Amino acid sequence: MPERRIRVLYDEAAIARRNEEMAQAIAASNPRDLLVVAVLKGSFMFAADLIRAMHRTGLSPQVEFIHLSSYLSGTVSSGQVEILRDVQSEVRGRDVLLVDDILESGRTLAFAKDLLTARGASRVSTAVLLEKPHKRAVNIQADYVGFECPDYFVVGYGMDVAHSYRQLPFVGVVETDDQAGLPGI
Ligand code: IMP
Ligand code: MG
Repeated sequence: MPERRIRVLYDEAAIARRNEEMAQAIAASNPRDLLVVAVLKGSFMFAADLIRAMHRTGLSPQVEFIHLSSYLSGTVSSGQVEILRDVQSEVRGRDVLLVDDILESGRTLAFAKDLLTARGASRVSTAVLLEKPHKRAVNIQADYVGFECPDYFVVGYGMDVAHSYRQLPFVGVVETDDQAGLPGI
């Protein structure tokens, strides 16, 4: 894929600051027997930084992964979520922190939260790097939110277009010719 210009929305320093603040808030909630479950793939970079920030607050969570995908029929999301790889740990009786990149319709996070709650987790809280307001299709709010994101398709810091741009250390918007005049935030 040819490299296109990326307009930075949240730079490395801003993300790092929010990660430390979120880790402090998570620690202040006094989690017990904490299991962090990162939702693959988009959250991998955020989760990696957030758990290290959590370590600096004195927390010692276990860390697991679940790979979920919105089920597509053609190009239209059916609203169903599919488990591509499940967690391997027992969650019964534990505090679980779900970590995802973006909360948009809420279907992915609601599905994961319901799943782990049904398996007997004692508390399931949620942390997302970005939240797009006014896009919710199901009723869910994240407990920890990095940034309220304008309604652009964003990439970087783990998030992709067809697996490109995940490596970027910041979050940005891919500029297309008709977006050249987008207002800054
Ligand atoms: P939801 O189930 O609609 O809340 O979808 C959230 C998921 O859609 C996120 O975990 C992302 O993987 C993906 N997603 C939504 N918006 C964007 C975006 O702007 N860039 C990259 N991925 C996105
Ligand atoms: Mg995702």
